[in-house]
Amino acid sequence: MNNLQNKKILIGVSGSIAAYKIPELIRIFRKEGAEVKVVMTDLARLFVTPLVLQAISGYPVLENRNGMIVDNQEDCSIRHIDLGRWADLILLAPATADLLARMSIGMTNDLLTAICLAAESEKKIAIAPSMNKQMYQSKTTQKNISILKSRGMLIWGPCEGEQICGGFGLGRMIEPIQIVNLTSRLFQYDQDMKGIRIMVTAGPTQEKIDVMKFLSNYSSGKMGFAIAQASAERGAEVTLISGPVHLDTPPCVHRINVISALEMNEEVQKIIKKQDIFVGCAAVSDYRPKQFLSEEKIDSDLKNVQLTLTKNPDIIKNIGRMNSDRPYTIGFSAETRMENLISNSYIKKTNKNLDLICANNIALKNHGFHTEGNSLHLVWSKDKFEFIPYDHKIKISHQLLSKILPRYEEKSKHQNT
Ligand code: PMT
Repeated sequence: MNNLQNKKILIGVSGSIAAYKIPELIRIFRKEGAEVKVVMTDLARLFVTPLVLQAISGYPVLENRNGMIVDNQEDCSIRHIDLGRWADLILLAPATADLLARMSIGMTNDLLTAICLAAESEKKIAIAPSMNKQMYQSKTTQKNISILKSRGMLIWGPCEGEQICGGFGLGRMIEPIQIVNLTSRLFQYDQDMKGIRIMVTAGPTQEKIDVMKFLSNYSSGKMGFAIAQASAERGAEVTLISGPVHLDTPPCVHRINVISALEMNEEVQKIIKKQDIFVGCAAVSDYRPKQFLSEEKIDSDLKNVQLTLTKNPDIIKNIGRMNSDRPYTIGFSAETRMENLISNSYIKKTNKNLDLICANNIALKNHGFHTEGNSLHLVWSKDKFEFIPYDHKIKISHQLLSKILPRYEEKSKHQNT
């Protein structure tokens, strides 16, 4: 389990009976080489003492007292920022229904929630819920959990078992060793994208014709989501701009949902200058109906309906044109014929001024739209390309990132000298 060597884990303990398992959790983490700091909510102190956690973690325990942040040594007004920056992972264990509710609406009424809100866009946050089964199954808690998931947080457990309040059910915190194993898996990849901000577009866009119809394509979002996931697994700060798809947000990814190409362009433009790398994997509709034809369904008896189309902005081309702050820019190219896969893709790369274009032949069986796997030709220049053979999209994405990173770093070095 060497993945945990020197990893910095910030454990947020809230007031649940499962808090008595946290000393054991810290012990295993430290045995695996991780450094652990602990923050407690007020109620957590009723279930486990700060002194025990301090002795086992080797660090002063941070807690709130009468609304003040206390670390038993000194008070510091930016403690919640520093702690989030320090951590490779913020682990809320045990996490009560109350903590989940406060987190879901972005409250910062204690040190722990303030740390989480400040760190949310940049750090991995994992949550191990622990509560009574009815509280867990309530619509409110389930909604809160889905909100936290949609913000890229990981939910580990709960599991079934005897409940302290009697009976048997789903609500127990998973065991410390399971938490350690899940954490270890989180760090199985080299964190070679730490400090890199990457934006990925994914999925189709939908262009409204009337209240019932739209123009679109078959993209499922799987390829773009896999690139976002692989980037997050390697420690990058990931923004995923997604068209309408039915996929869960990958852990630790900041997702922005859009419908149309205009909306996608708008969201990309808002923060593109802050990005180091841009990957345009979305199948953006090139055209949209010139006008929204009707607030009502178009009458199906009409003999002639004319649909006039107008060009959508070319999102990636606009990025390719940027003079300053242009991120390292990678496009995708969906083609249907092997004989002109490379040449057509190269033309797109040149026209859009990209650093790389990834060509995929969507006519091949099990490739391209909706499939779990893909293969890619990475077209670097007219006569230089590399092939990534067929594999699952997540593995393809890791291979793609490994090819991109040295070139991105080389280019940034040149730009900075
Ligand atoms: O989502 P999946 O089901 O997993 O399928 C994956 C995929 C086949 C959609 C993906 O691998 C892929 O090939 N995506 C790009 C498809 C495409 O739109 O290719 P294109 O040749 O039309 O566009 C070239 C590049 O320009 C792309 O990076 C595209 O995002 C970008 N573009 C295109 C039009 C436009 N108006 N704005 C753009 O940014």
